[in-house]
Formats: sequence, C-alpha cells, structure tokens
Amino acid sequence: MIKIKPTWVARIIDCKSFTRLRIMAADIARAKPLPGFVWGVSTSSYQIEGAVAEDGRGPSIWDVYCRQSGRIANGDTGDVACDHYHRYREDVSLMHKLGVGAYRFSVAWPRVMPSGQGEANERGLAFYDRLIDTLLAANIEPWLCLYHWDLPQALGDQGGWTNRDCAAWFADYATLIGSRFGDRVKRFATFNEPSVFTLFGYCLGGQAPGISDLASLLRAIHHVNLGHGAAIDRLRTGVTGASLGAIHNCQPCRPATAGPEDLIAAKKLDAYWNGAFPDPQLRGAYPSLLTDLIEPYQHPDDAIRICRPVDWFGLNHYSPVYVRAMKANPLGIAFGDAPPDVPRSDMGWPIEPGAFAQTLLHIHKEYNLPIYVLENGTASHDELGSSGTVADQPRIDYLRAYVGAMFDAIENGADVRGYFVWSLLDNFEWGSGYSQRFGLVYVDYPTQRRIPKASFHWYARLTEPSPMRSAARALDQTSD
Ligand code: FCB
Repeated sequence: MIKIKPTWVARIIDCKSFTRLRIMAADIARAKPLPGFVWGVSTSSYQIEGAVAEDGRGPSIWDVYCRQSGRIANGDTGDVACDHYHRYREDVSLMHKLGVGAYRFSVAWPRVMPSGQGEANERGLAFYDRLIDTLLAANIEPWLCLYHWDLPQALGDQGGWTNRDCAAWFADYATLIGSRFGDRVKRFATFNEPSVFTLFGYCLGGQAPGISDLASLLRAIHHVNLGHGAAIDRLRTGVTGASLGAIHNCQPCRPATAGPEDLIAAKKLDAYWNGAFPDPQLRGAYPSLLTDLIEPYQHPDDAIRICRPVDWFGLNHYSPVYVRAMKANPLGIAFGDAPPDVPRSDMGWPIEPGAFAQTLLHIHKEYNLPIYVLENGTASHDELGSSGTVADQPRIDYLRAYVGAMFDAIENGADVRGYFVWSLLDNFEWGSGYSQRFGLVYVDYPTQRRIPKASFHWYARLTEPSPMRSAARALDQTSD
C-alpha cells in the first residue's frame, strides 16, 4: 500500500488530480500512531460564558474595555457570548459527540472571587463544579486554565499586573481553585499566552486594559512570571497528582522585509513574544535582550520564585508573525504582512504548516518537556447554508495540513502528547468581536442554536479510537 507522508498532505490539498477521498483516509489513518495521545478542544471563559452579571460575578477588565468606544468591532461585548453559562450541558454533549478525550477551559477569576481577593463566590464556584462533573460523566478530562485574560476589574483598579501584589493575589486565587476542584481536576495551566495579553494589554494596544507604556509592560511581564511560579507552588502542594504547566504562544518572528531595521525588530519581538515567559519559567533567566530592562523590577531570589518545576509545555500556535520596525510605537516594532505568495486565512493570518513543525521541534530542543498543543485552528467566514449545514472546507484543509505538520515534527523527534483545536464553538474573538468564527460548531447568535460544521465531523473521525474503522468510514463517506 502506498505510504503517504504528512508533508505530502499539505501539498496535495490543492492538487485536484489526487482524490480527496484518498487523502482523507490516509491522513486520518496516519494520525493515530501514538498510544495515549490526547485529542481535545479549547475555549475560554470570557469568550463563551456570557452571564457577566449573574450569580454574583464581579466585573473583569474585559467587561470595562469592551464598553470603551471604538475598542471592539461592531461594539460587541462578552455579555452574552455563547451563553455557555446556561448551555454548558449541551456543549459537553457536543464534545462527547466529537469524541474528544479532553476539554481545556478557563475559570473566570471574577466569577469565583468577585473582587479578585478575599471572599469567594459560592455560586460561581458551583458553576464550575457542575461543568467539571458533567465533563467527567462524559469521560472527558477537564484541563483547567487559571487565567485567560479576564482579570477582576477590582484588581485592575489597583494597577493590575503592573502591581507586584498581583502575583500574590493570583497565588491565593490558585489556592482556592486547587482546593475546590483538585479532587477532580489534575491538569492545571497557570496562564494562557502571557506574551499576548501583556504586550497588547500594556504596550501595543488592542487588548484590555488598553495601556500603552513600556515600563508598564516590563512590570507586567515580571509580575505575571512571579504569579506563575507562586501558583505552581500552591497547586503542587495543594493538589495530589497535579500535572502542571503554562500555555505559551510561540511563533517564528520573521522580518517583513530584508531591511536591517526589520531584522532588528524581528529579533526584538522574538525576545518578548517567544522568550519573556518560557525562558525565566523554564530556564531561570530572561532572554539577554530583556535582562537589563527587567532588572529594576527584580528582587533577590525572584529568578528562583519564577522557575518552578512543571510537567509539560502548553503551546498555542496559528502562524508565523512578520515584523517591521516602527519608530512611533513604544517598542519600536509593529506587525507587518506576510509575503504576497503566502496563503492567508479569512482573518489574514498566514497559513504555513511548516512553521508549526519548526516551532514544535524548536520547543522540544529548547525546553525538553512533553508538549501539548493547546490551541490551533483558523477563522473563516462560515455561513449557515440553506440546507442547514456549514461547509467549512478551508478549516478542514487547514487542520489537516497542521495535524500533518505536527506528525512530521513527531517523526523528527518532538515529544508531542496532545492536540486541542481552537475552538469548540464560534465565540467572542476579542477585538474582532463576533466577526471572526473559529468554531468546529457554528453558533447562530440570535437564537444560540449550535450547528456542527463539516470540520466537526472531520475532527470526529480523526479522534475515533480505531484507525482502521475511521479510515474505512472516511472512505465510505467521501466521494469525488
Ligand atoms: C489566541 C487566544 C484565544 C483565541 C485565539 C484565536 O491568541 O488564546 O483566546 O482568541 O487566539
């Protein structure tokens, strides 16, 4: 039988002479070789829950930011989002149909501790009890992320992550979460994409809290790192059998042009984007470009406080980034465009599966930890067809190519143990509001009806336990 290499899969996608039927059977069968490999989906609290003023939840910095004029496309907010707070049972049932073994979600800090510190909110905690119990009953492992950007506004009012005390507040919140859910949840991540929410939230603009100041960014970086280390310590001692990590977005930073200024800008962004968190957390030191800049905020022993043993590396990856110099900006850099021949998603993000394989191998070499891909996916302008289905072939093509690239990296030695699609549902995509759809499930926002897209069915076949059965079914169901 012909052995199809995953690298071919990416190339074959546009090749009309090769039947889609054979590609699908081949890549599904190909994607099965690792016992214990976990297939999952990811979401985050502010992007799906809604119910922002219900059952005692306090406001978050995103609630406030969304209300500032001009911040979010179409003036959208997360007030209702996917109404997951009320519809979580239906959403878990969708995951069950999808056949995933794990679900990564985040807890909204202001839902369980409305002021960010002090008293806990029982009704908020009870929501996550219900969610976790429903997941376990469906045989889906909960992966809990403590922080996916929705800082309680009460802490934002005290400077948020620019205030060193925020690390201690975060550690207390981690203790609450560990003691409440640690009997049922073992996988905990401290932060989701710390480089994204610090860079955009405190310096480059575009995210809450909307600050634009280099010193604030440097403080925030260091205090988030301290919060990470403190939370790891609390969870390690508080949760028997805990498996801990953080989730980093890592992307090759490429100069947008061959000019020397863009080259310097790309190196600089690489230090902030790819190094400012993994390096101190896993190696005990900031990238050399940042050492002197962070120095004023360092206290004795901070490096040890930050660098605590973790069990895995959580990776989010969508595309490489292209960087150009921009003097007007506090960091002197800006995001540029990919070369014109690089394919892009409807959101404009470059589609380069090879950069994903490169990133996985790089992380494996640099940090030598098991890797879980905790976000990968693509936005497309999906529409509900007249037959009531959503034909999102570009998403299937993207996922197929990226899963193929991941298996290339595994073949070349990267220790990848799991892959989670972003996202289960279409949801509130930060500054883009509801204008970008990332879900395997289409959400009809006016009615909150959920409609699994074609990619949902594709991923369901990929996650099926028996490769032979999956491949056979794919052959049955696909025709040219
Ligand atoms: C990541 C975020 C996630 C989502 C995807 C598209 O940067 O972690 O919340 O917005 O991008």
